[in-house]
Amino acid sequence: MGMSIRPRRLRSNAVLRRMVAETRVSADQLIQPAFIVPGSGVKEEIKSMPGQCRFSVDTIGAEAREITKAGVPAMILFGVPEKKDEKASGAYAKDGIVQRAIAAIKEAVPEMYVIGDVCLCEYMSHGHCGIVDVDRSTGLQVHKSYTIKNDETLELLAKTAVSQVKAGADMVAPSDMMDGRVRAIRTALDGEGFVNTPIMSYAAKYASSFYGPFRDAAEGAPKFGDRRTYQMDPPNVREAIKEVKLDVEEGADIIMVKPALAYLDVIARVRDEIDLPIAAYNVSGEYSMIKASAAKGWIDETRGTIEVLTSIRRAGADIIITYFAKDIAKAL
Ligand code: PBG
Repeated sequence: MGMSIRPRRLRSNAVLRRMVAETRVSADQLIQPAFIVPGSGVKEEIKSMPGQCRFSVDTIGAEAREITKAGVPAMILFGVPEKKDEKASGAYAKDGIVQRAIAAIKEAVPEMYVIGDVCLCEYMSHGHCGIVDVDRSTGLQVHKSYTIKNDETLELLAKTAVSQVKAGADMVAPSDMMDGRVRAIRTALDGEGFVNTPIMSYAAKYASSFYGPFRDAAEGAPKFGDRRTYQMDPPNVREAIKEVKLDVEEGADIIMVKPALAYLDVIARVRDEIDLPIAAYNVSGEYSMIKASAAKGWIDETRGTIEVLTSIRRAGADIIITYFAKDIAKAL
């Protein structure tokens, strides 16, 4: 006879499996994104993101109630403004679309933790995340030669963050990837007395094909060029650590890696090197990928989703931003 070593003993019973699970996903670690559009009574499905809707300011309160009821404590908001221009005026307008949505959510569900995504691309006529200096000699349609004016953009980002917090946002999340924006936003918030408002920085944000459905949902695709001068190059991980460390020095409270799935190694590296909480963004393309194959009956949506969220937690993320939040919370 003798002693038999059998690792599978720990897997023999469902209760035991749960007790010894090394990683858990729970609803209170999830953030639900939402897109806010002009108009009233709007709740329209986004074609490229089945099950996700765009909401107007008057319908987002009811949605926030459902999200809370599901057990999800937080939302992050993206706005699609009525008008876009070359200064992104809609991003920091007192009655801007996101500012009004924040107030509506806080009125409907005061306990909802509301995060403002701070970026300019949805509000810029050209769709870039910063102020663009265009060489007009190439013609307005072509824009073969342009540069993003990093430092001039910082002021607008800081204004946007302050206006969101004034509207009631609990936290701001800069997603623009301009250099120095965390410090600029921190300084502006402190100057207005918002010393306790945290910044969740999209610190390692890659130039990814997985943002495709989002750009459709938020109408934020660049009209010319791409985001490769300010978003990170997929092959690089040392560069990610460098970007993350800069954001930590500038005062970020939470560090984000985005996207999540193709960058699980980046999450793990950041976890090793940084002692702050880490958020991972399970982005639009990662959502639509599961939705599309589940619709064809090729994979089980609920199991697949939980498996994916578990992998992101196992890699080292504390918080997950995911379009699945409301729907998967019940299954967790
Ligand atoms: C804005 C922003 C983007 C996403 C979040 N904030 C798009 C982009 O950078 O092109 C993507 C989110 C997703 O795909 O779900 N800069």
